[in-house]
Amino acid sequence: SKKLVIAIDGYSGVGKGTLAKALADKLSLPYLDTGLLYRAVGKKMLDAGLSVDSDGVVQIAEELTEKDWLRDDLRTPKIDKVASQVAAQPRVRAALLDMQRHFATQQGVVMDGRDIGTVIFPNADVKLFVTASAKVRAERRWLQYTTNPNDPAKAEQIKQIELELMQRDEADASRAVAPLRPAEDAHIIDTDHLNASEVLTQVLEIIQR
Ligand code: C5P
Repeated sequence: SKKLVIAIDGYSGVGKGTLAKALADKLSLPYLDTGLLYRAVGKKMLDAGLSVDSDGVVQIAEELTEKDWLRDDLRTPKIDKVASQVAAQPRVRAALLDMQRHFATQQGVVMDGRDIGTVIFPNADVKLFVTASAKVRAERRWLQYTTNPNDPAKAEQIKQIELELMQRDEADASRAVAPLRPAEDAHIIDTDHLNASEVLTQVLEIIQR
């Protein structure tokens, strides 16, 4: 039987990864978090002291392998920012394109990112665009990382996270190459009032249609 290609795009910190992992698990499909590719390129750029538009960064993207992105130090505010900067470079995106497409051959795939339904797999079987207000996303992210749920600085910290998420959304949506936007045929999933399992249920219904 034909294996599904499922494209998941959406804003930063919206729970795309959680949804993608759960779907991949449920449907026994491979999973690729494409944000990790841009994060890994950004990290290597920082480590090498390169500038964002240099040839060296393009070469890093061309030579990227799994060991570069399967590491646990790529989710920091600093890497959030450089990932978004390298992601605006057309040559970096071009260097990562084939690798992402090849990931889907034969076995199908669940892939999440910003341009999966628009650029990587315009013919995906199912396209999802996941949204939530910046405030809700910031609150969820804060709850994930806080060590003290009663922290007196809570409101201030959430505000700061919200600001960073909005800046990254704005950068991702306004860049010239592969800007963040829903594909015309994407199903919009608003998760403001849904928890992870409710989102999964809704999406499984869409896929079964
Ligand atoms: O999804 P994640 O937050 O890990 O992505 C980090 C950054 O990588 C995003 O802010 C975006 O700039 C970039 N990205 C992208 N295209 C993708 C996935 C991520 O431009 N398909």
